[in-house]
Amino acid sequence: MLSQQELKQSVAAAAVEYVLPLLGADVVLGVGTGSTADLFIDALAPHRGRFKGAVASSERSAARLAGHGIEVFDLNEVRGMPVYVDGADEIDAGLNMIKGGGGALTREKIVASVAERFVCIVDESKLVEQLGAFPLPVEVIPMARASVARRLEGMGGRPQLRSGFVTDNGCQILDVSGLRIAAPAAMEAELNNVPGVVTCGLFALAGADVALLATQQSVRELRR
Ligand code: A5P
Repeated sequence: MLSQQELKQSVAAAAVEYVLPLLGADVVLGVGTGSTADLFIDALAPHRGRFKGAVASSERSAARLAGHGIEVFDLNEVRGMPVYVDGADEIDAGLNMIKGGGGALTREKIVASVAERFVCIVDESKLVEQLGAFPLPVEVIPMARASVARRLEGMGGRPQLRSGFVTDNGCQILDVSGLRIAAPAAMEAELNNVPGVVTCGLFALAGADVALLATQQSVRELRR
């Protein structure tokens, strides 16, 4: 039986196989954040001479990429990218996701929005029938923390401040449990409209295009 770490390694390796045909001297890749994304970065490193560099969704991933000798670009310097590769905290069969467990949700959503394709890399423990068992991260402007929390309570959620944590953007995160996320895109749109919300961790209006799902048997490819 493969451990979760081995499943993450196998999906990271599969993601490298997935991106190899897309590489070229002018190609910049979008790279996400988290333990699975870390393994993707490590597996990508031996191929560093085959592409131009990467845009990272966090300072943490930028440091790991640079540590491997992969050039890291500011998104403002890049016109586009063929693919963004990142993990998720939960994903459903429609490839809607909850992200932000690592706190990088805003930059993840930005970089993903620029990429032509979002490839989500997960082990099978992340696949759920309905999103919401994992508390939904919501990044907030600090002065709106209490007002946003009240709105979230009005939606049936139980927000909890991620204490001692400041995002790469200088903001705070409310982790919201108890939400029934029957319509992820509608809830994402509703949360996007709450003043003070920077980003919510639902990725449904633009979910993943492809999911690579590591199971005990193989890495399966799911499409939207
Ligand atoms: C980071 O903010 C998150 O969105 C991660 O992509 C997500 O938490 C998955 O991380 P793991 O690969 O560590 O589970």
